[in-house]
Amino acid sequence: MHDFFIKLSIHQDMLLDRIENLKAQIAELKADNSEALEALRIKYLSKKGEITALFNEFRNVPNDQKKEFGQRLNELKALATDKINSLKEEFKAKEVVANKIDITRPAFPEEIGTRHPISLVRKEIIDIFSRLGFTLADGPEVEDDMHVFTSLNFAADHPARDMQDTFFINEDKSGDVTRNIVLRSHTSSVQSRVMKTTEPPIRIICPGRVYRNEAITARAHCFFHQIEGLYIDKNVSFADLKQVLLYFAKELFGPDTKIRLRPSYFPFTEPSAEMDVSCMLCGGEGCGFCKHTGWVEILGCGMVDPNVLELCGIDSKVYTGYAFGVGVERITNLKYMVKDLRMFSENDVRFLREFEHTH
Ligand code: DAH
Repeated sequence: MHDFFIKLSIHQDMLLDRIENLKAQIAELKADNSEALEALRIKYLSKKGEITALFNEFRNVPNDQKKEFGQRLNELKALATDKINSLKEEFKAKEVVANKIDITRPAFPEEIGTRHPISLVRKEIIDIFSRLGFTLADGPEVEDDMHVFTSLNFAADHPARDMQDTFFINEDKSGDVTRNIVLRSHTSSVQSRVMKTTEPPIRIICPGRVYRNEAITARAHCFFHQIEGLYIDKNVSFADLKQVLLYFAKELFGPDTKIRLRPSYFPFTEPSAEMDVSCMLCGGEGCGFCKHTGWVEILGCGMVDPNVLELCGIDSKVYTGYAFGVGVERITNLKYMVKDLRMFSENDVRFLREFEHTH
């Protein structure tokens, strides 16, 4: 029995020595990279580490001394954990200096997007017509034959339906034009919607996307954008149309711009015209850009055909009106000399950045 106690107290002295030893060792520890630090952590604190080994011996300590041992062991463990954490902070700070990270340098500027050229031009056109009292109207891109064609005076087998290669979604053979569903091929469809639901006077513009079944090339695309204009009131004349379009052209391309109207054909206007503006590059002298004519075409227009007014429920004996349709890509090409229509939908940031300072 006596021997046993002597053995135990020797054992305890050894344990205390080991604790003191480890404390001294830990105070001296050094590590200047994460591998060295991890090695230290394994050596002292892992499952097979030296401090853990001491914890395992704890059960051999007599009960009346467990309290003191426990405290000492916990102190040791806390010391080791603190040391390892502070070593980590130290070499992290050194790494920052070594990698020449200047934490006082201002952050890189946030890259913010730019407005798309089509949006810029659409906004510019909307602003011009807003100043003349036009308000915005909207309609669906997936539309029925009734609004895209029939009520705009395209009779069932009217050859003018072939002027635009339409995407058909649902072809209804019964002849019910409200069940024939298409992707609208022009924003004129919004005219018929507004006329059917609004009492004149009507003065609207409607910007929107339109679709045509065309092979995609530099000069044609299967979708593009238009802005439709419509003015219906008593005594609206062709002279009013001309005056508004002249104002529009001057606002858009500059005060020296001239316009010219050439007779044309659209089923929904009578008379119909196409409008040219004096070439913005040569001012009308004639150059490569305007094919030496001095003029470039920008829109279609005309007086709303009385048939269309009647089809949309407006009394053509009381009211007259004009309409026009502008291609937004066309105007953007002319203003910014974009030669290839595909650029507008490819989202190449090098192209889009060119417009960064335009707004
Ligand atoms: N909708 C025609 C097109 O897409 C453009 C157009 C011409 C619209 C004459 C009009 C107009 O409102 O009066 O080609």
